[in-house]
Amino acid sequence: MLSLNTLKIGAFLGLAAIAPTIAASESSSCRCLPGDGCWPSVSTWKAFNQSVDGRLVATVPLATPCHVPSYDEKKCVALKEGWLLPEEHYQSSSSFMAPFFTNGTCDPYHPVSKPCTLGNFVKYAVNVSSPVHVAKTLRFATKHNIRFIIRNTGHDYNGKSTGAGALSVWTHHLKDIEFKNWKDEHYTGKVAKLGAGVQGIEAYEAARKLGLRMVGGECPTVGIAGGYSQGGGHSSLASKHGLGADQVLEWEVIDGTGQFLTANRTHNSDIYWALTGGGGGTYGVVWSMTSKAHQDSHVSGLNLTFTTDGISDETFYKAVELYNTHLPSYVDHGIMSLNFLTNASFSLSPMTAPGISLKELKDLTLPFRDGLKKLGIKYEMQAEEFSNYLDQFNAQTPLVEIGVAQYGSWLLPRSIVESPKSRHELTKAARNVLSYGATFTTVGVKVTEEVTGDVYNAVNPAWRGAIAHVLMSTPWEFNKPDKMRENRKLMTDVLVPSLSNLSPESGAYLNEADFDQPNFQKAFYGKNYDKLRAIKAKYDPHHLFYGLTAVGSDEWTVSEDGRMCRVSPSN
Ligand SMILES: Cc1cc2nc3c(=O)[nH]c(=O)nc-3n(C[C@H](O)[C@H](O)[C@H](O)COP(=O)(O)OP(=O)(O)OC[C@H]3O[C@@H](n4cnc5c(N)ncnc54)[C@H](O)[C@@H]3O)c2cc1C
Ligand SMILES: *[C@@H]1O[C@H](CO)[C@@H](O)[C@H](O)[C@H]1NC(C)=O
Ligand SMILES: *[C@@H]1O[C@H](CO)[C@@H](O)[C@H](O)[C@H]1NC(C)=O
Ligand SMILES: *[C@@H]1O[C@H](CO)[C@@H](O)[C@H](O)[C@H]1NC(C)=O
Ligand SMILES: *[C@@H]1O[C@H](CO)[C@@H](O)[C@H](O)[C@H]1NC(C)=O
Ligand SMILES: *[C@@H]1O[C@H](CO)[C@@H](O)[C@H](O)[C@H]1NC(C)=O
Ligand SMILES: *[C@@H]1O[C@H](CO)[C@@H](O)[C@H](O)[C@H]1NC(C)=O
Repeated sequence: MLSLNTLKIGAFLGLAAIAPTIAASESSSCRCLPGDGCWPSVSTWKAFNQSVDGRLVATVPLATPCHVPSYDEKKCVALKEGWLLPEEHYQSSSSFMAPFFTNGTCDPYHPVSKPCTLGNFVKYAVNVSSPVHVAKTLRFATKHNIRFIIRNTGHDYNGKSTGAGALSVWTHHLKDIEFKNWKDEHYTGKVAKLGAGVQGIEAYEAARKLGLRMVGGECPTVGIAGGYSQGGGHSSLASKHGLGADQVLEWEVIDGTGQFLTANRTHNSDIYWALTGGGGGTYGVVWSMTSKAHQDSHVSGLNLTFTTDGISDETFYKAVELYNTHLPSYVDHGIMSLNFLTNASFSLSPMTAPGISLKELKDLTLPFRDGLKKLGIKYEMQAEEFSNYLDQFNAQTPLVEIGVAQYGSWLLPRSIVESPKSRHELTKAARNVLSYGATFTTVGVKVTEEVTGDVYNAVNPAWRGAIAHVLMSTPWEFNKPDKMRENRKLMTDVLVPSLSNLSPESGAYLNEADFDQPNFQKAFYGKNYDKLRAIKAKYDPHHLFYGLTAVGSDEWTVSEDGRMCRVSPSN
């Protein structure tokens, strides 16, 4: 097998370049689906499987034991118990976490008598272990006009890592981690080269052993080198070190023509720029990511909660507004402050303060806590200092379940919390959102150039002026499709606009936003959209990569039966 070290930069991986001429069926404006005349025969699939060293996996949906004809009560009970945790899904080659897209075709919540269908699950995955497997899969999908997907952990909320009738490259087993030194005019220090399948917690643990820490998600199992860093990536360390994307110095990537590239600020700098914040799944298949690894230090953390018990709604929202008054002083100290609001509770869970002592953190929050006392609010607080980031992360990061909610979001400009008038408007907006029984989470950060240092990337510019990523959610119920569609409409038409109306020029974080966001091109990518589209055209000339709301996705539609077609074939 070809190892990475033997690959030459820009090598075509020993294959002929994918030429447009081999894509005979590309003239069709729709992708082939199983059952179509253009779908490859059994023997063609067999030969393809052999060409990728027998690594082709046919999808059997995870919840198959919960339905006829394969019903197995014991297995189904176990599946149902773990269904709301990422762990159960990311080890599978096909399962994914966004319930709207699983669409009830195979889960433990629908009747046993309803047989599983593939629905939006991929048809096949290639369990890749070498760049050659990736290039061969790209070539096969191009040649046979099959929908192609890059799947890592399946965390994506927009269903971008799955697709009806698709062939996927599955990156989960690419787990190499190597620490090195980096030196150029923009950054000097430690870095980690991470395989595309490395998950946040794996990077944190490896870094910790060397007295280092890395920027990754609050969810320990998100793919740090996958959609997370490629889409932006917020973190408990973001106000200290910047977003996930701001850490990336180099990518190894296989582009849509099967070419293996090293992309950094000086080589292939256009695709480097695009991959770094411009969204996963649409420019190429990332093979590895080299990102900054920072010197670790003591980290303090604090959680604080109160409820509406014994206080009026007026008092509760005064307290919410008071918190927003103090938020700038927290992020200015490098703190990431995570605040969960419901119509009955306020929870800071947690504030993460890297390099700050327990005493400093308590002093810093004293004005807010004194204000709460004056309002007659009794809060519970626990604060602790840890000797390193991983210990704080493990002790204080809340568990995030999947399959429990539908989301929408907006990036809140700092200017809004800095003026009493607009701060009050924000309180009214939050109150409106909460009145629908939705949640209102503010991920309080500062990721300006002052924090990130000298970076060159396609992160949505709205992040730079933001003080928080506001994530709203309505509850998910597996058996109420009509109600769920109503909730989606509520998110798009009412909840997100409550905030976006306050700051229409801002935008939203593409990884955790409403996938029905109107004018998503501007909201998710800002002024970068056209440049990103042009870079995609250069590296994906056969239009192989697609993900809902990804750059270029507006040139395709996916119909109810899952068929994907060009909107305008001439384009
Ligand atoms: C429970 C939970 C908690 C989360 N917490 C956070 C958080 O704290 N901070 C945050 O910023 N986000 C968070 N997210 C959002 C997360 O960042 C996105 O879902 C992200 O897209 C996940 O990337 P992945 O590679 O793990 O997932 P996948 O679903 O496998 O992939 C996501 C996207 O990236 C593409 N992709 C994956 N691998 C590659 C590759 N090698 N090359 C090219 N494209 C690739 C896929 O095609 C897809 O478009 C969370 C999501 C969940 C479900
Ligand atoms: C691919 O080949 C391997 C090894 O022969 C086999 O185990 C696997 O089932 C095949 N995959 C498919 C989809 O047939
Ligand atoms: C995928 O490949 C890895 C090794 O690269 C192997 O450990 C794993 O069992 C494979 N999984 C499947 C489902 O084929
Ligand atoms: C960028 O990539 C090129 C090509 O691999 C390499 O020669 C160069 O050293 C890289 N830049 C840095 C700063 O490492
Ligand atoms: C709050 O912090 C304390 C102290 O570190 C920790 O023991 C506790 O589990 C945290 N509570 C929550 C809900 O995260
Ligand atoms: C609060 O939210 C719950 C759902 O979480 C909802 O049932 C209730 O009506 C809401 N109450 C108010 C006063 O908004
Ligand atoms: C879910 O299935 C229904 C019925 O087949 C279909 O109309 C709808 O488009 C599907 N939704 C998604 C997100 O796939």
